[in-house]
Amino acid sequence: MSAVSLLGEIADIGRDRPRGGYSRHAFDGREAELRAWFVERAVRSGLEVETDRNGNLWAWWGRPGPGSVVTDSHLDSVPGGGAFDGPLGVTCALDAVKSLRDSEFRPGRPIAVVVFMEEEGGRFGVPCLGSRLLTGSLAADRARALRDPEGVSPAEAAARAGLNPDQFGRDDIALSKVGTFVELHVEQGRGLIDLGSPIAVGSTVTEHGRWRFSFIGQGNHAGATPMSDRRDPMLPAASLIAAARRTAARVDGARATVGRLVPRPGGTNVIASSVDVWLDARVAGHNRTRPVVEEIAAAVRSAAGEEGCEVTVTEEAYTGAVAFDAGLRGQLNGVLGGVPELPTGAGHDAGILAAHVPSGMLYVRNPTGISHAPEEFAEDADVERGAEALAEVLRDLST
Ligand code: GLV
Ligand code: MN
Ligand code: MN
Repeated sequence: MSAVSLLGEIADIGRDRPRGGYSRHAFDGREAELRAWFVERAVRSGLEVETDRNGNLWAWWGRPGPGSVVTDSHLDSVPGGGAFDGPLGVTCALDAVKSLRDSEFRPGRPIAVVVFMEEEGGRFGVPCLGSRLLTGSLAADRARALRDPEGVSPAEAAARAGLNPDQFGRDDIALSKVGTFVELHVEQGRGLIDLGSPIAVGSTVTEHGRWRFSFIGQGNHAGATPMSDRRDPMLPAASLIAAARRTAARVDGARATVGRLVPRPGGTNVIASSVDVWLDARVAGHNRTRPVVEEIAAAVRSAAGEEGCEVTVTEEAYTGAVAFDAGLRGQLNGVLGGVPELPTGAGHDAGILAAHVPSGMLYVRNPTGISHAPEEFAEDADVERGAEALAEVLRDLST
């Protein structure tokens, strides 16, 4: 049961033919199939699986209890995402635990593999939904108020999946069992290509967040409405795209992206009545992201005013800068024999857990340097090195 063969087992689940890549979102049929696959695989390896109050799966080797060594990832994807973002961590974790179990080694502390619910926020909009709920960094009521594009809430989706969403919320009992937390992930940029190394230890996660800009104008006829009579919300929406690029290009360490825009009603011969546009912004350092978003928002408000449109800006998610536990980083480096340390601009559940328990990350080289797209990749040899590294780390941490 190598990580490479496990990745092969799930390679056909959730392929998105129209978009390319994979679309696997919390509690949809594809992700549900992957969760069932994970449970079956974990049980077959002798692990005991439980679902926590927030829809996260925990597979235990040993009696769950305080001081446990926990490794995690996720099985959901962005729309049209790659095969490795999430599944690489899950499959390496299953491989690592299986190889330790098959050896003479017996851990001094329990070990758990967690699959977090909705890490990408691809369905309900808030990333790391399962780990935010678990740690209480997102209130249960706020999670219940989220909606997917069809108007389904996480509570309804969880209930349909047989869970009890009344139990959503900070889970001190689950959290109290986590002694040390390590996530393995495919690298999402070119860091390890440039360093010439198959693996790295994570150092920091850039401050980041998501903002929804809702523009309201006047829906009307594309042919019968003179240009001077229009209140077209697509104009300030376009100004948001341009302002994001312009502002982020000027601010050191800033990244700003508009990857999703939903006009209503969305007809070729219809002036939209409203448009929702999502801005993803990330800035290196501390407390620098919201000021950049505010600068972009100021330009957008002015463009909306010129077009006679209204705009409201809503912060849908925010995560402060994370520095992974220095002691744990040193320990991981000691175990792995001095691999490079790597910062990341990508968000992870380990970044959410880091505020509560010593947390760290391992990255596996991605030879394309591309992620959140079908070209995301990892060579078999690097996947195997990742699983071995994770096994070495779990062995050391649980001894
Ligand atoms: C998840 O990968 C994110 O950084 O948005
Ligand atoms: Mn991702
Ligand atoms: Mn991920």
